[in-house]
Amino acid sequence: MPSLVRAELAYVPSLIEAMREGYSRDNLRPTTAGEIAQVEREPEWFVRQVNHPPRQVVLPDGTLGQRVPATDLWYVDGSTFLGSVGIRHELNEILESWGGHIGYAVRPSARRQGHASAMLAQTLDFVRANLPLKRVLLTVSNANQGSIRVIEKNGGVLEAEVDNPWVEGDRGRRYWIDL
Ligand SMILES: CC(C)(COP(=O)(O)OP(=O)(O)OC[C@H]1O[C@@H](n2cnc3c(N)ncnc32)[C@H](O)[C@@H]1OP(=O)(O)O)[C@@H](O)C(=O)NCCC(=O)NCCS
Repeated sequence: MPSLVRAELAYVPSLIEAMREGYSRDNLRPTTAGEIAQVEREPEWFVRQVNHPPRQVVLPDGTLGQRVPATDLWYVDGSTFLGSVGIRHELNEILESWGGHIGYAVRPSARRQGHASAMLAQTLDFVRANLPLKRVLLTVSNANQGSIRVIEKNGGVLEAEVDNPWVEGDRGRRYWIDL
């Protein structure tokens, strides 16, 4: 059964394949050929950076912001990389308006097989076991029917519809999941 793990070198070859097929850890930005080449050149650096993220984060508009404490985990089956989840330990003003506590992505070739639903369920268990949060916020674009289903299957309760501050004209939803 696939499981959530800390990033390790052993999964990097499969991660690179996933990136080539269109997986991106950032839901608002595709992985560029330059980024893939850098992971291939410096896999140790990349893994270290996933496990110990820099203090600053590049926001979707390209500007720099302060990163809140966060944990990124990979979802793997044996040595096969299937997807990833980013867990923000707290919200700031930006994440409160869009992003929330949890974001995730499944590699294109592994979609529609239940992985995101199972990955989010395991993520909620991780949060219950490791963080003092009583509930988590997730935001999703109205156009993302797959992710809406994943959130609702995991107990998401719709709070409100909101504008996506990063994508002109996009509307989305705020969901809370009680832990
Ligand atoms: C959204 C995403 C995570 C879904 O991953 P997945 O592993 O395919 O999801 P699951 O297989 O667990 O599917 C959950 C449900 O959504 C449905 N679903 C999945 N993708 C769908 C789509 N594109 N359109 C409509 N329904 C979809 C599935 O049929 C399933 O429904 P069911 O439980 O009633 O059978 C994946 O498409 C992805 O990584 N997209 C890019 C990144 C992204 O959007 N992340 C989320 C940001 S909020």
